[in-house]
Amino acid sequence: MKYIQITFFNRVILFLFITLLFQSACSNNSEDSQTDDANERNHLKHTFKNDFLIGAAINDDQFNGIDTQAIDIILKEYSTITSENVMKSMYLHPARDIFFFDVSDKYVEFGERHDMHIIGHTLVWHSQLGEWMNQIKDSSEMATALSNHIHTIVDHYKGRIDSWDVVNEALNEDGSLRESVFYNAMGGSYLVHAFKMAEAADPEVELVYNDYNLWKPEKREGVIRLIKELRDNGARIDGVGMQAHWSLLGPTIEDIENSILAYAEHDVKVMFTELDVTTLPNPWDLEGAEVSQNFEGSPFMNPYPNGLPDSMQVKVAQRYEDIFSLFLKHQDKISRVTFWGVNDGQSWLNGWPIKGRTNYPLLFDRECKPKLAYDRVNNIKKAP
Ligand code: G3I
Repeated sequence: MKYIQITFFNRVILFLFITLLFQSACSNNSEDSQTDDANERNHLKHTFKNDFLIGAAINDDQFNGIDTQAIDIILKEYSTITSENVMKSMYLHPARDIFFFDVSDKYVEFGERHDMHIIGHTLVWHSQLGEWMNQIKDSSEMATALSNHIHTIVDHYKGRIDSWDVVNEALNEDGSLRESVFYNAMGGSYLVHAFKMAEAADPEVELVYNDYNLWKPEKREGVIRLIKELRDNGARIDGVGMQAHWSLLGPTIEDIENSILAYAEHDVKVMFTELDVTTLPNPWDLEGAEVSQNFEGSPFMNPYPNGLPDSMQVKVAQRYEDIFSLFLKHQDKISRVTFWGVNDGQSWLNGWPIKGRTNYPLLFDRECKPKLAYDRVNNIKKAP
């Protein structure tokens, strides 16, 4: 077999050619990676990477790979996800001796696959409860039911969920304890019980109290009483979740700031867990995000059925810019900011407090395109 005689000179040429080929591939890769890096730098999770986690509540179509446009946003823009619905009691624990994790497992696997900070929402909430739990009146029966509920769920996701909304919406607007099925059976002790059970099931997981209207002074005082009550009884609480279902007009930046300062003074992380800004008029001065209220509205309560006028886009953008300016001012106290949904079309606010409206509360429109509000938030550090 005739061998091709390769002279020394040819070997040098060949070596240089291969080297150049490799380098150009790397440089292309590095160019690609530079392009990727540049693209990466253009997204929210990079913009705020030294400030706080930023994320969104996601739904089945997203964690099951169906809503590819929203998934693209989630993976590019966000470092944390929250289960909008699938980890609520009615789904995870539909009957006293039945737990169902098939769907929520898909949510957690999505977060793990994409190396995201995964929030479990929510262990104890008076709404979206399995009907069986709503029937419990006796204190010890409720304590046993809650122990089993919390231990089974938290243990199932031990080491995989980073943070639990342990109790959601336990306070009335005046800061007193809501007379929920848990309270009616156990009094205020159910809160200590819930936080202790969660910590026992997973000592590493972050434990959060989550509620709306926590900017209100009265409710703020209620939270601070709760923090003290938990700690006085040997329970751990790591964070307070201010849901942040806000409007263009309220709450004031001052009220929000006062709550950030007050909670931080009590050594808890502050997080904004369900951020959205409604652009529609509420027919009445509704109290917070109480989901049991729903009203039949009239067209004038649904003023933008075919799109949000530029004048309103500017107002939404300015509101979000003001909010994020405050968040950056107190980034040392804030650990996470989560939007309640990915795009406007998926927001709960299209159906609350009035069904069938067209709202524009988030940073991405119904076509998953970034709005002016997105640009203002993502460029906030470049603002003069
Ligand atoms: O899954 C069923 C579906 O099978 C059925 O066909 C459909 C028809 O009614 O209902 C679907 O369930 C709906 C569920 O969202 C999933 O889409 C419920 O009716 C509906 O009530 C439920 O609304 C959720 C609401 O919490 C009540 O759980 C909203 O999507 C969700 O955004 C909202 O989120 C809450 C937070 O958990 C707590 N803080 C307030 C926030 C806003 O209310």
